Amino acid sequence: MTIMLCDGRPMPRLGLGTWPMNDDGAHQAVRHAISLGYRLIDTAASYGNEAGVGAAVAEASVAREDLFITTKLRGSHHGYDAAMRGFEESRARLGLDYVDLYLIHWPLPGRDLYVDTWRAFVDLREQGLARSIGVSNFTTAQLRRLADETGVLPAVNQVELHPGFAQRELRAWHAEHDIVTESWSPLGRGSKLLDEPVVADLATAHARTPAQIVLRWHLQLGAVPIPKSAHPERMRQNLDVFDFSLTDEEMARMAELDNDGRLGGNPDTHVEL
Ligand code: A2P
Repeated sequence: MTIMLCDGRPMPRLGLGTWPMNDDGAHQAVRHAISLGYRLIDTAASYGNEAGVGAAVAEASVAREDLFITTKLRGSHHGYDAAMRGFEESRARLGLDYVDLYLIHWPLPGRDLYVDTWRAFVDLREQGLARSIGVSNFTTAQLRRLADETGVLPAVNQVELHPGFAQRELRAWHAEHDIVTESWSPLGRGSKLLDEPVVADLATAHARTPAQIVLRWHLQLGAVPIPKSAHPERMRQNLDVFDFSLTDEEMARMAELDNDGRLGGNPDTHVEL
C-alpha cells in the first residue's frame, strides 16, 4: 500500500519508527520489521542508529528499490554547506547510495537557516541522492516561507500527530498544498491514549487492539504513521491494519479525544542539535 507524493514517487502508507533505539536495537528491530513486511523505515542522524538501520537493510532479502528509507538532518548541520556534509555523513553511516526521503528534522527558527538548508535539499534531490525531500516539525508559516523563497514545497511534513493532538489546521493546509502528513508518536508514545474508553470500545467492536484502532484512524485521515516498537508481535499487529475500517461515526468519536495534547517539542521553540 502506497501514497503518491507530489514529486510522483510512491511512499508506503505505514512504517517503522526507530526512536529511541541504539544501533543494536535498530539492527534487530529493522531486520524483524522487514521480514514482517515493513518497507518504510524511519531514522535520523540525531537518533544515533543509522548504522544499525543500514546493517539491517544490507542484510535484507528485499531489494533496495522496494525499501523506503527516511533519515533526517540534525540541527547542528543547518545551512547549505553543513547540510550537504550532514547528508553525506548520514549516507555513509547508512551505507546507502541514496535515501528515499530526506527531512529537515526541526526548523530551528531561532537560527534562521532553514531556507538555506532547504536549498541544499533541493540540490540533493536534483542529484538523485535524496529521491524525495521534506521537512519535520514545520508550521504552516515556515512551510509558506520555503515556498515563497525557493519555489519548492516539501513533499512530506513529519509532525507529532495522534488522536490527543490531531493537528486539524496543519493537516488541512497540507491537503491544500499536496503535502503528505507523516505522523510521529502516532500511538501517543503508547501512553494513556491506548487506554481511552473510546479506543477500547472500538477495539472490542472490531476485534482489534487499541493500537490498531489508532493506526487505522491515521490511515483514514490520509496520514502515514510510523509506530515504533521493539517487539515483533507488536510490529506485526501495527502493520495489520489494512483490512478493516472505522465508520464516519467512529472517526467522529475519535475526534473527541483531541485536547491539544502535545507530547513533544514545539516547532517554534524546540532546539535540537
Ligand atoms: P515497545 O517498543 O515496547 O513495543 P509511538 O510510536 O507513538 O512513539 O509509540 C511507541 C510506544 O508504544 C513504545 O513505547 C512502544 O513500546 C509502544 N507500542 C508500540 N506498538 C504497540 C502496540 N501495538 N501496543 C501497545 N504498545 C505499543
